[in-house]
Amino acid sequence: MPRIYLDYNATTPLDPVVLEEVINALKNFQGNPSSVYEEGRAARILIEDSRDFVKSFLDAGGEGEIVFTSSGSESINLAIIGAVYAHKRLNKNKTPHIITSQVEHHAVLNTFKFLETQGVETSYIGINEFGELIINDLISSIKENTILVSVMGANNETGTIFPLKQILKAVKNAKDNILFHSDLVQIIGKSGFSLKDIPLDLCSFSGHKFYALKGCGALYIKKGVKIDPVIYGGHQERGLRAGTENTAGIVSIAKGLGVFKNGMDDELKRISVFGGIFLDKLFSAIEGIKLNGHPVNRLKNTVNVSFDGVKAESLLFNLDLYGISASAGSACNAGAISLSHVLKAHGYDIKRIESAIRFSIGRFTTMDDIDYAISAIKKGVLKLRANPV
Ligand SMILES: Cc1ncc(COP(=O)(O)O)c(C=O)c1O
Repeated sequence: MPRIYLDYNATTPLDPVVLEEVINALKNFQGNPSSVYEEGRAARILIEDSRDFVKSFLDAGGEGEIVFTSSGSESINLAIIGAVYAHKRLNKNKTPHIITSQVEHHAVLNTFKFLETQGVETSYIGINEFGELIINDLISSIKENTILVSVMGANNETGTIFPLKQILKAVKNAKDNILFHSDLVQIIGKSGFSLKDIPLDLCSFSGHKFYALKGCGALYIKKGVKIDPVIYGGHQERGLRAGTENTAGIVSIAKGLGVFKNGMDDELKRISVFGGIFLDKLFSAIEGIKLNGHPVNRLKNTVNVSFDGVKAESLLFNLDLYGISASAGSACNAGAISLSHVLKAHGYDIKRIESAIRFSIGRFTTMDDIDYAISAIKKGVLKLRANPV
């Protein structure tokens, strides 16, 4: 039986071109990049070339810096905690207020929760039933002590895309010294993005969402933006992130973005067509299903649907038996279902949330995969509807 991987938003397989570069880095660049002798210098050059490439990929111009981290999560922690700590240090511990949306990844939400324990004031902005951020609420929650807004580029569960340019402009118009951070983990390396177009102060991304290695990420910091480190030790990464650099991971980030850039137009077209076909075929094959998130402003690779009369966990189990890998936003922990905070924020009823599954396609998805998946999903849904628990 084939295995059909439909969980590209969770992680992507390594691109073979990236793998080659990683093997080269692992084999031939084993020096510590901080060492001054030849092996160290060679690794340093590789890292700095990768950094320059990432900056140019983002259209950062001379206006910012890239700090490599161990993940998207670390990058997000560094951006948000780092900005708060720098603010406290520079402003005699004045209590800062920070704002985010209710539908962020836990990397953002739990960082906010941690900062609440440090006396930081927080606000969480809601969305409407289509997943659109309520921008008026965001603007009216800005206070005299608001120092940072963090809003994601695209939602990992539903694929809904936030209009970052518009949100950034509205925030800066309301108070121009607020730092704007965006979790771009589901955008960078899978959609077009340019800092020239959307001049964020800080943004985070992660290698394993664009066919590079797991366990590596990066933070872009605009020139003049002050953040303090959250990991202390050596002076790597301009003193912002102690720890010997992961040379192979860093190389994989640059190569992953390079491969994407080279094939971007074709890939985006193909994903858009395949995503549309997947959605259409799913809706014509199975009755009683609902699309979750925004119907149009969505990452085209992401299809989050609820199946009437079906529990997502049972369907996922059946799909796995048929060779299909997909995800549910709601997870069963120790017998209790923890409902997806993202779908809850849409105001959906519990049944819709409990029956939601996210399918996400990617670079290596074929039309045969889609056809096979649709018939397997139909088989699983009909079986579960015929035998309700
Ligand atoms: C939107 C979003 N933010 C952050 C992360 C965390 O990235 P990482 O797995 O590299 O820590 C993920 C990963 O799923 C994500 O989808």
